[in-house]
Amino acid sequence: MPITILIGAQWGDEGKGRFVDWLAKSSDIVARYAGGDNAGHTVAIDEDVYKLHLIPSGVFHDDVVSIMGNGMVVNPVNLVKEIKGLQAMGVEITPERLLISSRAHIITPAHIALDKAKEIARGDEAIGTTLRGIGPAYLDKTGRAGIRMGDMLLDVESFAERLYSAIERTNETLVQQGMERLNPQEVALDYLDAAAFLKPFIVDTSIYLYKALREGKKVVCEGAQGTLLDIDHGSYPFVTSSSPTVGGALTGLGVGPTDVERVLGVAKAFSTRVGGGPMPTELDGPVADKLRGTGENFWDEYGTTTGRPRRCGWLDIVMLRYAVSVNGFTEMMLTKMDILSGLDELKLAVAYEVDGERMVYPPVTNEQLSRATAIYETLDGWQEDISGCRTFDELPEAAQVYVQRIADLCEVPINSVSVGPERDQLVLKS
Ligand code: IMP
Repeated sequence: MPITILIGAQWGDEGKGRFVDWLAKSSDIVARYAGGDNAGHTVAIDEDVYKLHLIPSGVFHDDVVSIMGNGMVVNPVNLVKEIKGLQAMGVEITPERLLISSRAHIITPAHIALDKAKEIARGDEAIGTTLRGIGPAYLDKTGRAGIRMGDMLLDVESFAERLYSAIERTNETLVQQGMERLNPQEVALDYLDAAAFLKPFIVDTSIYLYKALREGKKVVCEGAQGTLLDIDHGSYPFVTSSSPTVGGALTGLGVGPTDVERVLGVAKAFSTRVGGGPMPTELDGPVADKLRGTGENFWDEYGTTTGRPRRCGWLDIVMLRYAVSVNGFTEMMLTKMDILSGLDELKLAVAYEVDGERMVYPPVTNEQLSRATAIYETLDGWQEDISGCRTFDELPEAAQVYVQRIADLCEVPINSVSVGPERDQLVLKS
């Protein structure tokens, strides 16, 4: 069957982009199904490092069509900047190679201003959003007040009118919260320019996908964010407002489940999280500093979108087990194994203790989660540099044991492990 869905198994930033780029080699279409420019997917090709926020990570393959699905929320002005930036780096982006769903919702400056206002109002309880307007845009979508990419195909006046009234509606809330009003005219001009540029790219991507699947084309569905940031299944309310999990791929692209062959979970070999919310395996001190890196390298643990340092900790099997159950992974991939080289020992959180009870799946409430103590299993570390390994057998024995133990605890096979940022730095199990 032609569909592979690739999903982040943790709190986002698992390194999904490099695996999508790898899968794209043997696919016809790469389609993103959720989120917006809160995401940051980094793909390293030779000397160049590309940071994508909206455009799917298959875009570097000439014969792959990229789709931005209806489940996404799109800031059109930022999308135009991203397209032009990639074009300037020599990446060919044409309406034949990039298709944007007419049903994807538009993020307006009003959403961005509201995101900020809400975070300020939350005070100590702030979610730590990326301030890209994601939550307010999805709120307008579910509140049936959103503007969609397809509305850009209308005549200029009608589209401008929709924007004006959306901005004016938000201005009332902004003023109530002591924030500055937005100038609808100024905003509309930028958005009208973006609309003129993007029009040729906007189509009904669900029908396009249906026809392509009937022709036997291979499709990779690219997840953004991660399972634990899912609006339903994540650690609510410290989540994003979309569905990065498996169901979101189907709704966010308008495809049926009968074509799905594989559901791949990507997990980093340790845990990271940005923004607020409990993280039971979080570390503070030299191990966390080693995992995070200094920020000098693009692969260090600093947000691609916001530049914020990420919280780092040991790998949390309790959360991974949960991600397996929510998504039904058929296989998992591990990223950034090379970063663990040089540690004497490694820990895996195999269970939590919460109020005296041992739990192998996360508790439902954040209050309980914040009282969870991780119960660790300790494994030997390895000292060797593994960045040159290409087969599983070449990995030091302790690294092989680490990977196999994770697979056993999650009851899902792990056949691919990344050992560096470059395209070819992959260890594959034969
Ligand atoms: P929002 O998606 O900007 O509303 O942010 C909600 C939460 O999701 C915050 O904790 C963000 O840090 C987190 N988040 C959103 N996108 C990403 C991502 O791509 N990687 C990691 N965390 C993210």
